[in-house]
Amino acid sequence: MAIIGTDISYVKQLLQAGQVVGIPTETVYGLAGNAFDEDAVLKIFTVKNRPQFDPLIVHTDTLSKLTSFIADFPEKAQKLAKAFWPGPLTLLLPKSDEISDLVTSGLSTVAVRIPNHSLTLELLSTLDFPLAAPSANPFGYISPTSAQHVEKQLGKKIPYILDGGESQVGIESTIVGFEGDEAVVYRLGGTSVEALEKIIGTVKLVAHSSSNPKAPGMLKSHYSPRKPLFITDFEQLSKNYSKEKIGYLSFQIAIENVSLENQRILSLTGSYSEAAKHLFSYMRQLDSLPIDVIYAELLPEKDLGRAINDRIRRAAVRE
Ligand code: TXA
Ligand code: MG
Repeated sequence: MAIIGTDISYVKQLLQAGQVVGIPTETVYGLAGNAFDEDAVLKIFTVKNRPQFDPLIVHTDTLSKLTSFIADFPEKAQKLAKAFWPGPLTLLLPKSDEISDLVTSGLSTVAVRIPNHSLTLELLSTLDFPLAAPSANPFGYISPTSAQHVEKQLGKKIPYILDGGESQVGIESTIVGFEGDEAVVYRLGGTSVEALEKIIGTVKLVAHSSSNPKAPGMLKSHYSPRKPLFITDFEQLSKNYSKEKIGYLSFQIAIENVSLENQRILSLTGSYSEAAKHLFSYMRQLDSLPIDVIYAELLPEKDLGRAINDRIRRAAVRE
């Protein structure tokens, strides 16, 4: 069992010794290791059971540390960094030699972000290396938004989880890369497209793929609960299953023909940010109920509704 606590100096010692630990961020919890230590990076892939073709995000706390391990910082990227860091935005930037191919799965870009969580920023400020950290879930499952979520799934494999409470954004960072002068969104996330476009104008959205090694951040089936999750044809579902056996995830309003204890409402006030914050923990709750299937409503396609729908759709993919 991992220790859950707030001892930053102990976490620092563990990281310096090449261990991997759970860390809080505003988006989701990360499974962190020294990004400059190949053995620590390998350990991350092993603990998470993650294929090595899926590269990691490198976390740091200042722009000056960041510029030491990237080869270029395009103007649009700088504008976005200034507007959204620390915060739920990841930038794909050309890497310098300091970043191992293991971190980037051989790509020439490295994914970087400055997270917005006081404990993790404090930890990063004491380290002389950045932290490689994917979300702290077994590959393919729902990302963790609390230390307890991490403990439940990876607790046997890691020594420590830094407890920073519930993640306030609740879905992963938005990933933005650059093709020439054009900004490209590779993963929708905690920073909305509308917010990005206010800073740098129109951005390009790239569709998800199930097996495109050039854009490994976009695996189609992901974020999945273990129970089958449906997003279409609720009427048929309610004919096939009794109302005690269906879980229902709604945006704002409960529905009639499912037991109330099997329903989770993302935001009674219709707030997209509140919905994002609840999404993964409600999916986990539904997944652990004595039900057979989950039905999830899609949100309006705007603001964080788009990123939430992206996660729900990918949770619904069955291959
Ligand atoms: O909010 C977040 O981003 C969280 C917290 C812990 O920071 N991290 C996170 O990491 O979601 P992860 O590993 O679960 O997702 C990162 C995604 C992966 O799908 C990976 O394929 C993609 O980023 N990625 C990383 N480096 C990339 C690169 N150079 N080019 C394209 N995609 C990349
Ligand atoms: Mg992940």
